[in-house]
Amino acid sequence: MAKWSVSLSTTSPLLDGQHEALFGCVEELTSAASEGRTLLTFHAVLQLRSYIEDHFSTEEAMMLSHGFPGRAEHVLEHRRFSARLSELMEENIRRDNSKEMIEFLERWLWDHIARRDQEYVPYLQRAEGKEAVPGPAQPVTGNGARQRDEGQDSRPDS
Ligand SMILES: [Fe+2]
Ligand SMILES: [Fe+2]
Repeated sequence: MAKWSVSLSTTSPLLDGQHEALFGCVEELTSAASEGRTLLTFHAVLQLRSYIEDHFSTEEAMMLSHGFPGRAEHVLEHRRFSARLSELMEENIRRDNSKEMIEFLERWLWDHIARRDQEYVPYLQRAEGKEAVPGPAQPVTGNGARQRDEGQDSRPDS
């Protein structure tokens, strides 16, 4: 079963806590489904959807405030996930597709957090002053130092 681990960390305690809670929701869902408790299973999916929508809002606001350039594409991936989850939930009313739903959730969460969410981590770290982000050079300021003409990046001469 997919679980949150430190290798998935975004360096934000808030986002990491939300990611961990999402894996917890899938665990609850899995245990309800394995016991054949359809109402409890559906309740667990509803809870997961509510948690994940909150998480998407937090994450999307964070990406905006940190100037993450891949935000639009990332948001689109969130929207596609929500649309697919809604389809699976509708289908769940007609037939028990909990196994398929769990597989989708586990795979998507793991892949998205391990790959997509990692893309914004350098921008969070920049805000914390931990690491530079590739991009436009920052001007040198303070102590009357003169700014270098070409900034501070390490592009090869062209
Ligand atoms: Fe996330
Ligand atoms: Fe995300």
